[in-house]
Amino acid sequence: MNEKQLVGEKAVEYVKDGMIVGLGTGSTVYYTILKLGKLVQEGLQIKGIPTSVQTAMLAKELNIPLVELKDVEHIDVAIDGADEVDGQAALIKGGGGALLREKIIARASKMFVVVADAKKNVQTLGAFSLPVEVVPFGFEMTARHIAKLGCEPVLRLNPAGEAFISDNGNYILDCPFPEINRPAELERALNMIPGVVENGLFVDMADVVITVDEHQQVKVT
Ligand code: 5RP
Repeated sequence: MNEKQLVGEKAVEYVKDGMIVGLGTGSTVYYTILKLGKLVQEGLQIKGIPTSVQTAMLAKELNIPLVELKDVEHIDVAIDGADEVDGQAALIKGGGGALLREKIIARASKMFVVVADAKKNVQTLGAFSLPVEVVPFGFEMTARHIAKLGCEPVLRLNPAGEAFISDNGNYILDCPFPEINRPAELERALNMIPGVVENGLFVDMADVVITVDEHQQVKVT
């Protein structure tokens, strides 16, 4: 079993009958969703709230009942991947471009469980370019403001070479900050810039991180 599958499947232990479950986006939580699909087929009663159109399609294929955020009081548990996880469980997310909905759903959840293969564990965040979702209007100006915080933003493109459009109709700027020593400060500073919708720093949000240690054993912190 590969690492993504190991950690992804482990996360279903946090899902109990009757729960509202935030369903993350990406190749690791994919395994969580597959396993949940199997459990639903066997009788588990849950309702999912997807963090992206892609995840909604997968959940529908697997017959996982879905509900909209407006129709629930809270989410019991959200499970999602990460691009980087530091020693304080601060995260970079948004490699798949779903960071805005992911953050809304993680914030609305009583418990936020992160699934990450060993490659995602870092001492200091920053080797992975930080995704920042921005409105298309005046994005070049927004990028210049972001650059003043210490990076050179790059507009994310789709495979056809056009601007990648998020599920919310926005652009993503990938921001290569060399080292993010104060993630909470940077998260706030970025969100103060007009034109920035949200950024991929998730600080003090993860309640549980499921990863793999150097002996290929699942580690839960
Ligand atoms: C999508 C995300 C993903 O959770 C993150 O990119 C990790 O993806 P993967 O599990 O495929 O490595 O934030 O916006």
